[in-house]
Amino acid sequence: MIVNFSFVLLLFISVFVSSANAKATISISIRALNRSGDSVVIQWSGVDSPSNLDWLGLYSPPESPNDHFIGYKFLNESSTWKSGFGSISLPLTNLRSNYTFRIFRWSESEIDMKHQDHDQNPLPGTKHLLAESEQLSFGSGGVGMPEQIHLSFTDKVNTMRVMFVAGDGEERFVRYGEEKDLLGNSAAARGMRYEREHMCDSPANSTVGWRDPGWIYDTVMKNLNNGVRYYYQVGSESKGWSEIRSFIARDLYSEETVAFMFGDMGCATPYTTFIRTQDESIATVKWILRDIEALGDKPAFISHIGDISYARGYSWVWDEFFAQIEPIASKVAYHVCIGNHEYDFPAQPWKPDWAATTYGTDGGGECGVPYSLKFNMPGNSSEPTGTKAPPTRNLYYSYDMGSVHFLYISTETNFVKGGSQYEFIKRDLETVNREKTPFVVVQGHRPMYTTSNEVRDTMIRQKMVEHLEPLFVDNNVTLALWGHVHRYERFCPISNNTCGKQWPGSPVHLVIGMAGQDWQPIWQPRPNHPDVPIFPQPEQSMYRTGEFGYTRLVANKEKLTVSFVGNHDGEVHDTVEMLASGEVISGSKESTKVPNLKAVSASATLMRKSESNTLWYVKGAGLMVAGVVLGFIIGFFTRGKKSSSGNRWIPVKNEET
Ligand SMILES: [Fe+2]
Repeated sequence: MIVNFSFVLLLFISVFVSSANAKATISISIRALNRSGDSVVIQWSGVDSPSNLDWLGLYSPPESPNDHFIGYKFLNESSTWKSGFGSISLPLTNLRSNYTFRIFRWSESEIDMKHQDHDQNPLPGTKHLLAESEQLSFGSGGVGMPEQIHLSFTDKVNTMRVMFVAGDGEERFVRYGEEKDLLGNSAAARGMRYEREHMCDSPANSTVGWRDPGWIYDTVMKNLNNGVRYYYQVGSESKGWSEIRSFIARDLYSEETVAFMFGDMGCATPYTTFIRTQDESIATVKWILRDIEALGDKPAFISHIGDISYARGYSWVWDEFFAQIEPIASKVAYHVCIGNHEYDFPAQPWKPDWAATTYGTDGGGECGVPYSLKFNMPGNSSEPTGTKAPPTRNLYYSYDMGSVHFLYISTETNFVKGGSQYEFIKRDLETVNREKTPFVVVQGHRPMYTTSNEVRDTMIRQKMVEHLEPLFVDNNVTLALWGHVHRYERFCPISNNTCGKQWPGSPVHLVIGMAGQDWQPIWQPRPNHPDVPIFPQPEQSMYRTGEFGYTRLVANKEKLTVSFVGNHDGEVHDTVEMLASGEVISGSKESTKVPNLKAVSASATLMRKSESNTLWYVKGAGLMVAGVVLGFIIGFFTRGKKSSSGNRWIPVKNEET
């Protein structure tokens, strides 16, 4: 009797499902992609009475429940969707397990505003599955293919670290040499991984956010000759090798130092997901790649000073990030410091009373674990997580490059007097050999100076001024670079909030968090947003802009120059020079074409000539008018961009609220 009832029920369900979706089919153009970035075309047909909200979900691993998608696209992106068929082409990242694709019917009456993404858009409904595709895999190497290759310096000068990811823990190597067809040197890579139980909160440890991160490999290429190009590849005979890449070995004695520096970049995804992603990061990577190629055989490196992938607990976003930066990070060392979006969690070990509003849940439950394992910076700084997770590392360290000493610090862990980081910073700055490196550059995530004076970071700014600024001033720091605020802003040489004349005693501060993330209160009023925060520009702020981009640092023994490159045109829009004599020469907002780095010196001279034309903009009566126009342009641009991808743009809001 029970058997008969079950049989009837099964029959009823199958008849109901097949009659509702009898005709809908979905197929993929290829069953296996070679590598991350390759595209698949997903085609569907037979969708009856198409709805504007019908959608395509991406799933990996393929057995994921319907509401555990990686991301989604609306079918109406295809021009023929109203006819019940269409196609969408998607570049995909290798997540070391197969993908499937499912199409769903979703209608306006089913919108549930209780289930929203990070942008407060409703998450698409999964009640009506129309069809599911076959599985898509990655290449003949499958999970064994090494990907996400990135380089960094170590504490030893004649070395270069290389890290990468693969889907299994079998042995892998790097092989390298000065000739592309003779990679005669080899080193074994150490494989490691982290587990779901190491995540400290949701979404990182939830079934929605967690995915297997694969095995992270780490090895060092040794005995490199200064400033020489090396070729390398990673992998193994049995599991396959990556393509051959190359880099210029670090040159401690190079006459010129070149770096590309920014914060808060994040990554772009070809689909909408649970959290906001950063479309602007595409242009940042593109222009930096242009600059690296223009350098030819000169060494360089990258500094990404916190808020790195913005994965915030959605594991696959880290994969998307590393796939996106690989074209630059496999060519030059990619250095990082920790930001709130890598670390912040309620039980973090250091959370003083005065910072109650400063440290929260921005890390999305990652508590620094992916950051700590996916990068391996010089030094051996670490702090316990207070959980089962491995310690948080890559907190503070330094190295020399040419004429510059670079120091990286953590604003997320204890930096006040008496702590181990404070002692490190003090000792580091006090022992710099200024004969060898006349310039000292400090980098950290949350700014000591910014005119985006958000209340929640007020105390941290005060504590940084109280504890760290005296070290910077007493030890003649040349330049301090900060992120966190998603804007470019340059201050005068400054100490105790007062403009000085020379960088010895008054370091120049720059905020450079403008590489991708677009969620930021703006400085100027906009006609249609009269209630939003407005932060007037004080005289200490020499230049600020809402444009996205990155900075270039070029230094020799006589001069250190920083230029802001705008993503909208790839050109320099602000420059500041710090001379070895102590003089600081302010830049300009004037756009000066700099097709490659060879022209930087010339453009800096041009900037000096146009300086007198600039000050009216930052100080004069034209400020208000310029601000309104600028704000309107920013608002229009971002709103347009987000609506085109199906998102609703929230014009001005604190990132964390
Ligand atoms: Fe931040």
